[in-house]
Amino acid sequence: MNIKAAVIGTGIGIKHIEAIDGYKSSKVIIIYEKNKKKVSNLKKKFPHIKITSSEKDIFNDKNINFVSIASYDNFHFSQIIKCINKNFNIMVEKPLCLSLRELISVKKALKRSKTKISSNMVLRANKMFINIKHKIKNEKIFYVESDYMWGRIEKLFGWRSKVKNFSFTLGAAIHMIDLVCWLLNKRPSSVITLGNKIVTKNTIFKKKSFLIYLLKFSQNLIVKVTANMVGTHEHFHNLKIYSKNKTLFHTRDGSYILKKNKKLFTNNLSYAYPDKKNRKKVIRNFIDSIKNSNVKKIISQKEIFDLMSICFAADESLKLNREVKINYKI
Ligand SMILES: NC(=O)c1ccc[n+]([C@@H]2O[C@H](COP(=O)([O-])OP(=O)(O)OC[C@H]3O[C@@H](n4cnc5c(N)ncnc54)[C@H](O)[C@@H]3O)[C@@H](O)[C@H]2O)c1
Repeated sequence: MNIKAAVIGTGIGIKHIEAIDGYKSSKVIIIYEKNKKKVSNLKKKFPHIKITSSEKDIFNDKNINFVSIASYDNFHFSQIIKCINKNFNIMVEKPLCLSLRELISVKKALKRSKTKISSNMVLRANKMFINIKHKIKNEKIFYVESDYMWGRIEKLFGWRSKVKNFSFTLGAAIHMIDLVCWLLNKRPSSVITLGNKIVTKNTIFKKKSFLIYLLKFSQNLIVKVTANMVGTHEHFHNLKIYSKNKTLFHTRDGSYILKKNKKLFTNNLSYAYPDKKNRKKVIRNFIDSIKNSNVKKIISQKEIFDLMSICFAADESLKLNREVKINYKI
């Protein structure tokens, strides 16, 4: 099966076009961008691709079999449902949708269709994190810290301030929660969330702009995640992993393992980070898995639904101000 794709949205969507178009026998044949001011530049950049500002061009096209959704978060759900109704395969940017009710509807719709769906959890293709996963495989870990240092405060005041159900759990922490679950090969059983908006109090961004989550795993393992949208820091994914005789650090001050053998000593981790050149791999692996069901998926559909369940429980905890058990039976 040759992939004939449409891409919706041309922010991060440009990266989708670059990942798909020309990969093996895949082609992007339609780009849908609702901002008409962007259309003429897109025509210059992608002269061989049809550029449209009407969604209908995708859903009326008989050749399309794959859609990459990189629109604003509030459009993902309806666009997913339309794709499922046409049996199009879907690569959707995170988050898949914005409510548990929507997630359940997507699950139901998928059951009656041939559509395959995936989500672009790019950190799973990062050389640093792949190597960290390998290094911690046999460690008895008791605590993990992972912080999404967003470093892009100005982006808060665009569409993210306008989307009603916008959540930084779904928009940012989701990457770190996924990273930790994938590194540990485990899912948490419950979550406690706190947040504040001290830095953004007098701005048009009304939601909390700093969030902290405590996730409980089996055997008393505890994970702390933060979505730190406002801290002074470059865009970075901090990680600290603690086991009995070792601590692994991936921070702006360095990536290394601190060990104790009478004295403390360090082993540097010199793997690529942020490793942007490997980010196309998640989309390309999904294409490979559509063509050949034996291809090992970087992220499975079940993992995506479980991740969304964790995020919804985390937001529920913030709302209810108490620990929330995570329900994986969606
Ligand atoms: N996986 C990642 O690491 C990652 C990184 C950045 C963004 N994202 C996700 O990608 C999505 C887009 O974010 P962004 O940073 O690219 O935003 P952006 O504002 O940079 O670009 C979005 C573009 O999509 C267009 N668009 C929005 N809704 C549309 C619709 N319904 N139909 C057609 N065009 C539409 C906008 O006009 C804009 O040009 C969001 O869901 C975001 O969470 C994921």
